[in-house]
Amino acid sequence: MPTFSSSFLLLPYSSALLQSKDPRVIIREDPRDVSVYIADYIISRIKLFSPTPEQPFVLGLPTGSSPELIYKILVQRHRAGEISFKNVVTFNMDEYVGLPRDHPESYHSFMYKHFFSHVDIPPQNINILDGNATDLVAECASFEARIARYGGIELFLGGVGPDGHIAFNEPGSSLTSRTRVKTLAYDTILANSRFFGGDTDKVPRMAMTVGIQTIMDSREVVIVATGAHKAIAVQKGLEEGVNHMWTLSALQLHQHPLVVCDRDATLELKVKTVRYFESIEQAGTDARTQGPALVYRPRTYVPSPVQVKTPKSQQPTPDGTPEKVPKDLRINTELHRRALEEEELTPDSMSSRLVDSAIGGIDGALKGDLMFDRMGTRLTTL
Ligand code: GLP
Repeated sequence: MPTFSSSFLLLPYSSALLQSKDPRVIIREDPRDVSVYIADYIISRIKLFSPTPEQPFVLGLPTGSSPELIYKILVQRHRAGEISFKNVVTFNMDEYVGLPRDHPESYHSFMYKHFFSHVDIPPQNINILDGNATDLVAECASFEARIARYGGIELFLGGVGPDGHIAFNEPGSSLTSRTRVKTLAYDTILANSRFFGGDTDKVPRMAMTVGIQTIMDSREVVIVATGAHKAIAVQKGLEEGVNHMWTLSALQLHQHPLVVCDRDATLELKVKTVRYFESIEQAGTDARTQGPALVYRPRTYVPSPVQVKTPKSQQPTPDGTPEKVPKDLRINTELHRRALEEEELTPDSMSSRLVDSAIGGIDGALKGDLMFDRMGTRLTTL
């Protein structure tokens, strides 16, 4: 005879589901329905939070083609008077290194074009990594400090790369990583070349990105995955084990993850998996009522310290805001070229990893996160 925990027996059905810690997956027919679902979800979360200037809603945001429609819907709903972003503070996931801020493909440009210019968010509430900072390491440390100052991120919206990366946490990234500079994997350069006229040479080789741990520390994570080209990443992330070669899979360890897929993105999942997740939704609940009860973070929340060597001149000020760093948007390309020469590109490809080449797929380019190096080394060279 099956045994049930007393808490399960005592709780009404819907409350029992509230205690569930299963990963939540919502499947919709196409990208439009996925985007509507996620926009609704974000709006309902912000409204539930009732943000104020003293206690703003802290929202993590991605770029990429997948979230474009979500932004469009959020803008429409804002214009319709349904939602205000006045008391929302945003942190973007990532930014290219060395691409001028006003370049059309910089993530700064993307965010203003698709979202920030169309809503009422105050400019001082927007946080995007400065890929042209004179000291990139200090910029990463300051970004983490700013997140901590706001008491952590309430909801991190993210996309996923065809190779399973979230933000720019490429295959091989440490699952405990924090905001840092990463060399882009060849798969990502290929995938993102579509934004640079199909010319891989024009795609920056490096980026700054929040780490997996930065994402894991947020109270909720919502991932958008649409299209058949994301199906393998979704399968690896949901059905297989936690694996740094498919960094999406780290969310299996998160308390409140939500993956919203279109039908095409489920193509590699087992029928059994799809039916299971559909049955959860059909049981009369949706993502808003699944997962552990929502308890907002105390403002005192501080993630584990970022261990970086910060030059004295760039130490965060006592209130956590970064000291003004002279910004030259006409970047010193020499600096970045030198950095590139020091870190070669990853010659792996997703298909090679699909066989069994988890090892073959890694190379020195990801040395900051490699499993072969000593953990002690990584602590000081984030
Ligand atoms: C880039 C971004 C990721 C994004 C991914 C997928 O690599 N750094 O944050 O999730 O692209 O983008 P898309 O939605 O265009 O497929």
